[in-house]
Parts: sequence; C-alpha cells; structure tokens
Amino acid sequence: MEDKEFTDIISLITKQTGIIPRESHKSGIKNFIDKRKKEIKLNGLDYYNYVCLNKAEMDILLNHATVNETYFFREESQFNFLKNKVLPELHSSLGLNPVRIWSAAASSGEEIYSLYLLALSLGIKTECLATDINTTVLQKGAEGKYKSNSVKAVDGAKFHYLLTPYMNQDKEVNLPPEITSKIDRRQMNLTKADSIFPRNIHIVFIRNVFVYFTVEMRRSILQKIVDFSLAPGGYIFLSMNEIATIDYTILPKGVEKCSEGNVFYFHKKG
Ligand SMILES: C[S@@+](CC[C@H](N)C(=O)[O-])C[C@H]1O[C@@H](n2cnc3c(N)ncnc32)[C@H](O)[C@@H]1O
Repeated sequence: MEDKEFTDIISLITKQTGIIPRESHKSGIKNFIDKRKKEIKLNGLDYYNYVCLNKAEMDILLNHATVNETYFFREESQFNFLKNKVLPELHSSLGLNPVRIWSAAASSGEEIYSLYLLALSLGIKTECLATDINTTVLQKGAEGKYKSNSVKAVDGAKFHYLLTPYMNQDKEVNLPPEITSKIDRRQMNLTKADSIFPRNIHIVFIRNVFVYFTVEMRRSILQKIVDFSLAPGGYIFLSMNEIATIDYTILPKGVEKCSEGNVFYFHKKG
C-alpha cells in the first residue's frame, strides 16, 4: 500500500473516531488492511475510497483500529467507593426507581457486568447500558463468555467473589442469559451528535478511551455527557490516569471534580 493511502486511512480513522493511533498500533492496522485488500474486490478503487463509500466496511476497519483491553472490576478502589458510598446514596435518593448506569466505552462488557453484579449484590435495582464503537466487542459482551485474562489476579480480586458462581477452575467466566439479558447494548460513536447521548444517567463510566483522543475531543465529549446524559446528583468516572489529565482548562462546566481517598470523579449537584 502507498504511504499516502495509509496516511489518509489513519487520518480517516481519527476523523471518524477521535482516536489517534499510536505508532505501535499502526503496524497492526496496516497488516489488517493488506490482508483485507486481498479478500475483497475493490473494482479499481483504492481501500481509502472503498471504505469511504461503504458503511459496513467502515465498521470492519474501525473494529480493527480500536484497542479493547479490559477486565472485570478494573480499578478496584472505584468499585469500593461505589459499594460504600455511591450506590447506597443513589439508591436511597431514587427510592423504587432504578439506578441508571452507562459504560460508555464498554469494550467486551467486563466493566458493565462488574457494575451490574455489584449493584445486584447490594440488592439495588439498575438499568445498565453498554455502548462502544466496535461491533465485534459488543457482540462478545452479549455472549458473556470470557477467558481467564478477563480476571486479573491483582486488580479487582477483592470483588471476584461476585464472579464465583459463573467461573470454572480455569477462571473462565460464563454468564447466563438471566445476566447477559439485563444489559442494553448499542453501537455508539462518542464523537458524534449530541442527540445520540443517552439521557438521565446516574453513573457514567468512561474509562481508558480518552487516552487515545485529542485534548479538544476529551473536552467536547465530557461536556456533552454532563449536558445531555448526566442526571442531577450523577457521577462520572474516568480511569485514574485519565482524570489526572483533566486540568482546569478542560474541566466540564456543571460538575465538580471531587476525590475520596485515591478515587477521583466528577459529581453533578443534585
Ligand atoms: C481500552 S477499551 C476500555 C474498556 C473499559 N472502559 C475499561 O476501562 O476497561 C477502549 C474502548 O473504547 C472504544 N472506543 C474507541 N473510540 C471510541 C469512540 N469514538 N466511541 C465509542 N467507543 C470508542 C474502543 O472500541 C474500546 O472498546
């Protein structure tokens, strides 16, 4: 493939997703495109033009351009904080209404299942939404079958008791339909229009995706979440590394940046 075509495809990925692929990741994307070009008939078009004209092919390309690393109960201290403060507090203020939770870059679903299982163990009713740009990982989440690399020995281990009923001796997790069916899933590109942002959410997890975005994109997405998605009294959690990069210049309006111990989060006044 010509260098120019590849550079144009990388720019296209950035335009579509906000992601700026790292050098280490670019070779994987290039290998995928080389292989893909042999599989399909381009009828004289180069891959760049083909993908621009073909929405299904765009999804296939983006499914190979994202980094999907995730695991259950990642960043255990946030789950401690949810267990001890956020979930009980929201539950008592919402009465019989469910706590609405959104995993906004959900990958294969370990994050949203961790949130759902934690709330379930506390007897708290939830409505859970998982969104991602990548349709392959969303499908994996729907299946609810995980290899042992989704269960880390160190981080999250304190909450593995919640997975025990579904885990075999090789630490593979197989979630039954009564759990997988509790999660609403959709493809959603966070860089797109305000209208697609879900409404009235009490807990937003948007973790380990901002690292791939420009500063301006981080600012814009966070502000949309605050303005369109977050309910009064709601919380937004980023990964620890990411929230450290949100300084006052891109701090969203309408929330406070708060901390409790080593857990940092945004909170909208109730
Ligand atoms: C590293 S995973 C993070 C998974 C999980 N939140 C965690 O922290 O363990 C990042 C996810 O962000 C998704 N993603 C990247 N760009 C996106 C975009 N523009 N809109 C929605 N999801 C996106 C990727 O497909 C990937 O599944």
